[in-house]
Amino acid sequence: MSDYIWFEGIPFPAIGTETEILREIRDKFVIRDEDTLLLTYPKSGTNWLIEIVCLIQTKGDPKWVQSVPIWERSPWIESSVGYSLLNKKEDQCLMSSHLPIHLFPKSLFSSKAKVIYLIRNPRDVLVSGYFFWGKTNLVKNPESLEIYFEWFLNGKVPYGSWFEHTRGWMSMREKDNILLLSYEELKKDTRGTIQKICQFLGKKLEPEELDLVLKHSSFQAMKENNMSNFEIIPEDKISNGLHLMRKGQSGDWKNHLTVVQAEAFDKMFQEKMKGFPPELFPWE
Ligand code: A3P
Repeated sequence: MSDYIWFEGIPFPAIGTETEILREIRDKFVIRDEDTLLLTYPKSGTNWLIEIVCLIQTKGDPKWVQSVPIWERSPWIESSVGYSLLNKKEDQCLMSSHLPIHLFPKSLFSSKAKVIYLIRNPRDVLVSGYFFWGKTNLVKNPESLEIYFEWFLNGKVPYGSWFEHTRGWMSMREKDNILLLSYEELKKDTRGTIQKICQFLGKKLEPEELDLVLKHSSFQAMKENNMSNFEIIPEDKISNGLHLMRKGQSGDWKNHLTVVQAEAFDKMFQEKMKGFPPELFPWE
């Protein structure tokens, strides 16, 4: 069990992140107009979104997603490995990040890069995170869900407060180069949401290509794809029996949070997300 790396008050995974690099990324990393950025708070369905966008790029051909690890197809800006991969790329890039807006490369804000920000019911994010992070040596492991619940509400979890992260990125939602999506709409209408992504990225797929994107990004297909399910991560330094593909459902929090916890969460949500129209949160 490790603790965190702290940068500007935000806890980051203790392995694979360095404060000097985080500073350099914020101040010097150049985002280009042609880049596509997939941004999320952790456990919001990031890897599902990455898989979909990769498959859109190949028009549903699964060769790429089945032969190259997901973190190489869409490197993480803030991870030391991802950052060095991105620095070697010369043309347009697909990249992912969990960085809160105030730590993101400043160059984004004057670029036309396309950004997809994916949100998910934070109660499901909390439960998913509890089961995921506890199986890693990247962060401080909670002894119980009760403890993790407190940490989550106080933002003492990897990448900080869900509320601050979401408020920060959602403040950009009116910009033309940002598409705001939710895990819940992706679950409810996967085909329609993939079409929305295609339209935003300026990609046209034939109906049979769209069928292939759906097929190869399904929960089952990703669970069986070792390039996407994290199972090639050796059980030593980082992983401790880690599974990305846990349940893949909306509303699983109801099986884990008590009534008292759910009420405390509702209160916090109302306070912290005041000013944002409720229709932005399709689960509320
Ligand atoms: P659960 O833990 O609730 O199952 P991230 O990629 O941001 O770490 O998010 C992981 C969550 O996304 C996990 O949620 C995982 O099961 C879910 N997920 C990943 N791929 C999915 C898919 N193809 N369909 C539905 N959910 C998916």
